[in-house]
Amino acid sequence: MAWKLTRDGATVHVLPGNAGIPNSHPEISATDFPAIQSFCEANGVKLIVVGPEAPLAAGVTDYFAGSDIRVFGPSRAGAVLESSKVWSKEFMRRHGVATAMSWQYRSDKLDEARAKATELDGQVVVKYDGLAAGKGVYVCSSVEEAQAALDDLQQQHTGWFSFLLEEKLTGPEISIIGVTDGNRVRLLAPSQDHKQLLAGDQGPNTGGMGAYCPVPFADDNVLAAIRTSIVDPTLLGLQNEQFDFKGFLYFGIMLTPQGPKLLEYNVRLGDPEAEVLLPAMESSLLELIEATLDGTLQQTVVRQRRGYYVGVVLASGGYPAAQFPTGFPITGLDQLHPSILAFHGATRQQNGELVTSGGRVMVLVGHGEELEDAVNYVYREAERVKFKDVYIRTDIGQRPEPTLAGNW
Ligand code: AMP
Ligand code: GLY
Repeated sequence: MAWKLTRDGATVHVLPGNAGIPNSHPEISATDFPAIQSFCEANGVKLIVVGPEAPLAAGVTDYFAGSDIRVFGPSRAGAVLESSKVWSKEFMRRHGVATAMSWQYRSDKLDEARAKATELDGQVVVKYDGLAAGKGVYVCSSVEEAQAALDDLQQQHTGWFSFLLEEKLTGPEISIIGVTDGNRVRLLAPSQDHKQLLAGDQGPNTGGMGAYCPVPFADDNVLAAIRTSIVDPTLLGLQNEQFDFKGFLYFGIMLTPQGPKLLEYNVRLGDPEAEVLLPAMESSLLELIEATLDGTLQQTVVRQRRGYYVGVVLASGGYPAAQFPTGFPITGLDQLHPSILAFHGATRQQNGELVTSGGRVMVLVGHGEELEDAVNYVYREAERVKFKDVYIRTDIGQRPEPTLAGNW
């Protein structure tokens, strides 16, 4: 986002940022609102564009309401679309948004959930109610797996908590991300994440191992069905419930034989979707954000560049386990072809050296006329970047084209 907004002509500071983002300020946390306010006042900052969900859920937009510093991102009340799976499921139901069947439980009703999971033959998805950085969802394929998921939920969380059991859906997934002023929405290109660690969609869920856009099979028919059954009812719901929602709105969708179904909302850009969507965007993100805040979104259009963008994550070996080693020197970035974009995630400077500092270290993004060109290009270039135990999923942007069967 900092890269795109800078290209759009803004002067950008990033709190806290990282070793690869110019004008980063690692000493300021994104949830320390008084520190952010002092920083903005000292530096003449008039607009805050929020990246992750935590500051939104903690109320950064509410904190600055009424001041002359504008915030792009929903209030705490709007952020609940992402921060509570139970609440967002109820919102979907109230407004007829197409989604999976589900059953809601509190932690004192685990036995009932166990019985339900067995009745459904273990073909369920268990979802913890709160924010869990992508780690609160268990996709199960047997009664044993479902019971183990419920055991894990019980072990991970102390005190009262709520959770959902969902019917397990099948079909390809797609991310539809828009900018909304709460009344209308401008959609960016359809994109696809690769959430599982291993090629062929195997292994544990991660924050996302790579993404590409646009998605060839998301044609006009598919997008129209998504609009009618998911996007439009969501916007009507936001209006009816008088959310003053100005920000990014992310729809995580599965294209099932019964039509598109919403898996989740996020109230931000996705990661790693953002790393391909923003380079693909030809028009100005800054103007789009300002139009949203000014109430002139209706007069804007979003233009996309031609071709395909593919982003692959360079991850630390051991990710997404709870612990794995970091602090390894990163080399080879200066060898990359200038048209490859290298977006840093978990990096920091240590004694004048760039080192790894977490799981998803960086995303490399390549562009090509055809999807296959972009894939080949970015994988070839990725070999130049080295750090100890680097892990790259090998099939980003290479899923077989799905046949979308069923009565849409
Ligand atoms: P969520 O955070 O709710 O999007 O869930 C994370 C991932 O779990 C999704 O990207 C899907 O791959 C999977 N998932 C979530 N809900 C379902 C469902 N009802 N059926 C099948 N897979 C699901
Ligand atoms: N890529 C999915 C997410 O950001 O939640």
